[in-house]
Amino acid sequence: MPLTLQLANKTALVTGGATGIGRATALALAAAGARVAVNHLPADAAKADAVVTSIRATGTLGLAIAGSVADARDVASIVRATEVALGPIDILVNNAGVIQEKPFLETSEGDWDFVVGVDLKGVFLCCRAVLPGMVERGRGCVINVASELGYLGRAQYAPYCAAKAGVIGLTRSLAREFAPAIRVNAIAPGPIDTPMLSLEHMSAAMIEKEKDIPARRVGTPDEIAGTAVFLASDLASFYYGQVLSPNGGALMA
Ligand SMILES: NC(=O)c1ccc[n+]([C@@H]2O[C@H](COP(=O)([O-])OP(=O)(O)OC[C@H]3O[C@@H](n4cnc5c(N)ncnc54)[C@H](O)[C@@H]3O)[C@@H](O)[C@H]2O)c1
Repeated sequence: MPLTLQLANKTALVTGGATGIGRATALALAAAGARVAVNHLPADAAKADAVVTSIRATGTLGLAIAGSVADARDVASIVRATEVALGPIDILVNNAGVIQEKPFLETSEGDWDFVVGVDLKGVFLCCRAVLPGMVERGRGCVINVASELGYLGRAQYAPYCAAKAGVIGLTRSLAREFAPAIRVNAIAPGPIDTPMLSLEHMSAAMIEKEKDIPARRVGTPDEIAGTAVFLASDLASFYYGQVLSPNGGALMA
């Protein structure tokens, strides 16, 4: 039988799904037929509801669930709410993330804990909450959103780069530990036009510098969502512990 991108009858949980890459991924998974839970921070409730309205318009089920991936109790209730409403989780997309631009010598322990707490510990907590069910059912797929900066590093972004490098190591470790029943892979995007790439989080000079890559532009969230749908689908059935890099040529490896 030919392998397809179809995700009908699958349940997906996308963390940080109200905006940017998470939003686009949630919509793309729904368009491929999946039921999708959209996790979000409480402040993003209206945006998450709008994503869920669009998911339902495709004819599948969607649900918005507030909570922080950096908090183990929140993660347990996010997973429980997803499974009660939409069924056991087949696809976990660890997308939630935060970024901070700060000279290393001004980086406090609190800054470190904030960024690493969401970007790396959050992935650990969500995997730890979802993997037991996947093991029990003998199937599942985890997609971790890392970053090209996990490979490259960048001045003034040490906690972010360290966390994203950690996500790549975590991905490969889990891929080895849970294969063959469960596939764990990562995406390491280059610069993408989302709220993260805005003056709220980055200097104007840094945003301008992001376009200085072979593609001569930053990418769109949809250009990352397609990679996530591929990794979630049967087309990627031989992918284990891989880091796919839709990055406009920013890093060629
Ligand atoms: N935009 C880029 O250039 C780029 C490049 C490489 C990797 N990434 C990664 O892509 C992912 C998505 O980022 P984005 O670019 O779409 O930006 P974004 O800011 O739109 O998305 C991040 C989402 O995570 C949510 N979030 C933050 N803390 C959370 C928490 N504790 N619990 C749950 N949700 C939380 C935010 O509210 C937001 O909705 C992140 O992991 C980011 O590091 C982005």
